[in-house]
Amino acid sequence: MKKLLLLVTVLLPFFHEITGSLKIFLNNALYENKTSLTISDPAIIRCEVADNTENETLIWYRGTLEVNISSENSVNVSTVCIPELTVEDNGVSFTCLLKSNTSIKRSLQLDVQFNPRLSGDTQIRAEEGKTVQISCGFKANPAASMFWRQNNSLFTLPANYKQDLTMDTLQLTIEKVTKKDTANYTCVALLPNGNETTRVFELIVGDRQVGLPIEAIAAAVVVGALMIAFGMFARREKIFNMCMKGRHDTAM
Ligand SMILES: *[C@@H]1O[C@H](CO)[C@@H](O)[C@H](O)[C@H]1NC(C)=O
Ligand SMILES: *[C@@H]1O[C@H](CO)[C@@H](O)[C@H](O)[C@H]1NC(C)=O
Ligand SMILES: *[C@@H]1O[C@H](CO)[C@@H](O)[C@H](O)[C@H]1NC(C)=O
Ligand SMILES: *[C@@H]1O[C@H](CO)[C@@H](O)[C@H](O)[C@H]1NC(C)=O
Ligand SMILES: *[C@@H]1O[C@H](CO)[C@@H](O)[C@H](O)[C@H]1NC(C)=O
Ligand SMILES: *[C@@H]1O[C@H](CO)[C@@H](O)[C@H](O)[C@H]1NC(C)=O
Ligand SMILES: *[C@@H]1O[C@H](CO)[C@@H](O)[C@H](O)[C@H]1NC(C)=O
Ligand SMILES: *[C@@H]1O[C@H](CO)[C@@H](O)[C@H](O)[C@H]1NC(C)=O
Repeated sequence: MKKLLLLVTVLLPFFHEITGSLKIFLNNALYENKTSLTISDPAIIRCEVADNTENETLIWYRGTLEVNISSENSVNVSTVCIPELTVEDNGVSFTCLLKSNTSIKRSLQLDVQFNPRLSGDTQIRAEEGKTVQISCGFKANPAASMFWRQNNSLFTLPANYKQDLTMDTLQLTIEKVTKKDTANYTCVALLPNGNETTRVFELIVGDRQVGLPIEAIAAAVVVGALMIAFGMFARREKIFNMCMKGRHDTAM
């Protein structure tokens, strides 16, 4: 009991040193839990000091970079505004700190919802026998289920087909392609509400190219270059003489 009392009296002076606490408001509502926003909408983020005894200056960070705010917008209350949210704003965090004691801070992470965005080169040409990769880049919030359709039908992947999914890419790898693999491959992003976003990738498999092996071409180039050099050497005397003659002529 005595020990506890001692601890309290030791800690009390420290509690008095706390100069304020912070509150964050998102679009005028106190930010407590994850709040979803919609793409293209504005986001107004306000930070307020409470329980302070004097002017407190606020500073902001967007991710790890400090935000440039005016001095008028930094005393006791400060607001940062994003007029139109974009895909790039999703997941970005904003932190408001007390300049006099940066260990007093509040953060918020933007949750920007949008219809899935798919990307990637949609025309793929390949030679028979080669390995082909079809890459469908995607961005989605909320998360979407990603899969492929072949000529508009769901299909079970044959043994030489491989599917990979990363944070932002759905990839289909086909080993030793044949002309039978020629088809439209549709990358599908399916949302929990049943809404789908698709992007069609057209794969056309053509004949194997018959061409000269690279080494043979390289050897031919070397021989050709050498022959020209020898030719120059053989004619050097003649060229030299022509110049001499020319110089002699102008000197005349
Ligand atoms: C935030 O979440 C807590 C617990 O999950 C809940 O009690 C509270 O009502 C929520 N606040 C808001 C503003 O939604
Ligand atoms: C900031 O807050 C302090 C404490 O409440 C107050 O004395 C001061 O006038 C405020 N400053 C402004 C600019 O509102
Ligand atoms: C508090 O801030 C306001 C507005 O920036 C300023 O007018 C006032 O002089 C400041 N007070 C003190 C005590 O610094
Ligand atoms: C911050 O903004 C002010 C006024 O808009 C400008 O003069 C200053 O150069 C900016 N500083 C940085 C680091 O961007
Ligand atoms: C800064 O705030 C923290 C947390 O409230 C507190 O523990 C610490 O003593 C404060 N530091 C100063 C220098 O006031
Ligand atoms: C996909 O459709 C095209 C055009 O109708 C057809 O030539 C091709 O054989 C089909 N591919 C597959 C794998 O069904
Ligand atoms: C892919 O779809 C387009 C448009 O429907 C069609 O013109 C084309 O023939 C299809 N290609 C294949 C390989 O099925
Ligand atoms: C479904 O997706 C389309 C296109 O991506 C979009 O225009 C539409 O608003 C979405 N509908 C719903 C209910 O989300």
